[in-house]
Amino acid sequence: MPSSHRKFVTSKQIKTGLTAVRFSDEALTLAHKIMKRYPEGKQKSALLPLLHIAQTEFDGWLSPQVMDYVAMLLKIQPIEVYEVASFYSMFNLKPVGKCVIEVCRTGPCWLMGAEDLVKFIEKKLGIKEGETTPDGMFTLKTVECLASCGTAPMMQIGETYHENLTLEKTEKILDNYKNKGEVVTHWRKERVTNHSDIKQ
Ligand code: FES
Repeated sequence: MPSSHRKFVTSKQIKTGLTAVRFSDEALTLAHKIMKRYPEGKQKSALLPLLHIAQTEFDGWLSPQVMDYVAMLLKIQPIEVYEVASFYSMFNLKPVGKCVIEVCRTGPCWLMGAEDLVKFIEKKLGIKEGETTPDGMFTLKTVECLASCGTAPMMQIGETYHENLTLEKTEKILDNYKNKGEVVTHWRKERVTNHSDIKQ
């Protein structure tokens, strides 16, 4: 477990703001910029972007202490953060690999072979859905409709949609990610360090 996730946030720390978990200066600046978009008392509206920042900052997943920290920033109850983070499939509540594969399993993709696709990936990587490969490279998830039904079956890796998949095509895509060996996230780190795309 990364050291940044190790200590739990106590209620006293939440009240005083002195938590063991903290955003980088750049991420904190961006978080405050986003929170300022909303009137006082309505900062909860910034929850989704703050969770994206948190996930980018802390190795691609949200531990309870990270979610507590986000709650503290927004001045809301931790349970309000847990509810949202556990609802959306793009948030990971346990450690993930460098590359998170999200295969759509909803109707149109299912009809076009998503089930076979998942079985193929499971066999290729030697893991089951929800698991991470022992080398920490891949995590396999199944998710609901990603709004690309016309190009089913499809999967999302980071911010990239891979569409009209066949087993052969999927194998090449995964080999390509493995050869690159890079961390692929939903929310690019540059958005934290260079947030010119976040307009006031
Ligand atoms: S059903 Fe797979 S993208 Fe819509």
